[in-house]
Amino acid sequence: MAWINSPEAPLPIAVLVSGTGTNLQALLDTVHGHEAQVVAVASSVADAPALARAQARGVPTAIFPRSRYPDRPARDEAMAEWLIERGVRLVVLAGVMELLSPVFLERFPQAVINVHPSLLPAYPGLGAIEQALAHGDERFGVTVHYVDAGIDTGPVILQEAVELPGASDPALVLGALRPLEHKLLPEAVRLLAAQRRLVAA
Ligand code: GRF
Repeated sequence: MAWINSPEAPLPIAVLVSGTGTNLQALLDTVHGHEAQVVAVASSVADAPALARAQARGVPTAIFPRSRYPDRPARDEAMAEWLIERGVRLVVLAGVMELLSPVFLERFPQAVINVHPSLLPAYPGLGAIEQALAHGDERFGVTVHYVDAGIDTGPVILQEAVELPGASDPALVLGALRPLEHKLLPEAVRLLAAQRRLVAA
């Protein structure tokens, strides 16, 4: 795969999923085949609908259920090996419901990003929208950030807010945030692909 080493070539990326994969779909519909190439989709869950989205575009998939390995680092080593074999240079977490151990992050330094449904550093972790609603917020948002050893603590790459006065239903807030996620995540991948091209040039 000569294109992997060419500065003009799409950046080979992996997407890690556990669920529906609408963010994966957004990447497949925008940057895939252009600024980036999704060369691998790894799921922690065997029946994640995201897998069918990847398969429909001919993207190789693999499943790494936690139960198949003695511990999390062993699972993450195996997953990192598979991604490295496929030439992955950037790993995108898009709804993966698993913590990654340091062994995984060490294999992809400064090259793992995540999309989160809050204006980080506010409301990291699970239930971000519910936390914001419980706090009485009327301003919500989406953050794409680098992944570090903490939970949603890595440096912010892109962030966008939306005002929802009187919001009280988490499903409605999520519905308002979805389009932002689907816009910001491809935008972040474009940015990082451009940055890698500059470094490689
Ligand atoms: C998104 O809401 C994202 O912010 C969070 O997990 C969800 C994934 O959704 N990290 P999908 O599987 O991409 O549809």
